[in-house]
Amino acid sequence: MNTPIILAIESSCDDTSAAVLRGNIVLSNIAASQKVHAEYGGVVPELASRAHQQNIVPVIHQAIKEAKIQQKDISAVGFTRGPGLLGSLLVGTSFAKSLSMSLGVPLIEVNHLQAHILAHFIDDANPTPPQFPFLCLTVSGGHTLIVLVKDYFDMQIVGRTIDDAAGEAFDKIGKIMGLEYPAGAVIDRLSAEGDSKAFSFSKPKVAGYDYSFSGLKTSFLYAIQKAEKENPNFIKENLNDLCASIQRTIIEILIDKLEQAASDLNIKEIAIAGGVSANSELRKSITHKAQKLGWKTYIPKFEYTTDNAAMIAMVAKLKYDRQEFADLSITASPRPATSQEI
Ligand code: KG4
Ligand code: ZN
Repeated sequence: MNTPIILAIESSCDDTSAAVLRGNIVLSNIAASQKVHAEYGGVVPELASRAHQQNIVPVIHQAIKEAKIQQKDISAVGFTRGPGLLGSLLVGTSFAKSLSMSLGVPLIEVNHLQAHILAHFIDDANPTPPQFPFLCLTVSGGHTLIVLVKDYFDMQIVGRTIDDAAGEAFDKIGKIMGLEYPAGAVIDRLSAEGDSKAFSFSKPKVAGYDYSFSGLKTSFLYAIQKAEKENPNFIKENLNDLCASIQRTIIEILIDKLEQAASDLNIKEIAIAGGVSANSELRKSITHKAQKLGWKTYIPKFEYTTDNAAMIAMVAKLKYDRQEFADLSITASPRPATSQEI
């Protein structure tokens, strides 16, 4: 059998992305991010779906052009079915359906969270892919999960946030400091010049391997309001130290539970995935823990951390190998069916 060429579309939130994979090799991975949300301090669903409609055709054309393939070379079309924003998902879903119909090739549905995790199997994501079973700390703007990955499609959630996601915490705390949305990467950058021990914030006490970030956001807000009463320029004068301190706290919270789960489950294959896995402090801490605890860690390349269609194409390729195809009656699915389902 020839190596399949998969075209995949990702449109679950505010990035319109298309990618072409030959086998596990990325031929192109194009994304148009939507600047329109910055002035609102968060994603506005109606504006997101409208921007997807504007971006989807040029992004797909660009992906095909950069991959140096022709439409007739495409073996299957993959798309993100969910979870995500309904209006955004609908744009990608409808487009993928019509494309698969017009090309006469199979349609393959992909779960966005599985894709963040399985991005590790893209040829150039890691020097070697993770070995099953592995634990994957999956941290994005919408999700914070510790997932036990027993096989490609056998995943069990062992811990999750009970309120805000880690990326959401970065974004909301960034907003309090007047930073642009999404603030995660900005906080990361500003932290490089700051003292991470300058301020301390209390960490949540949550049972098991679950997380909570909403209390941290509130205590940060109160601390800032109090400090600003005495010094109206407090944020400006302490911005780097504030960023470094809150970043350290969020990363410590994430790593503490991951370490606990890894120890209890006796797993030393540890991966990170999702937008927050781009964070330099998280990457440093994971590497440090690996040396201390004998973990083998998998830290994806930056382009496969935040939302991208290469990871969707990777899952579609794995499903193509299993001949797991969707039919044209399929609809977008914004939420998982059960709380244990990924
Ligand atoms: O995976 P992703 O692109 O979208 C979702 O599925 O949510 O993740 C986006 C999130 C945002 O909250 C953003 O602030 C965060 O990832 N993020 C970061 C960094 N880069 C992106 N958070 C911390 N440090 C970063 N370097
Ligand atoms: Zn994502």
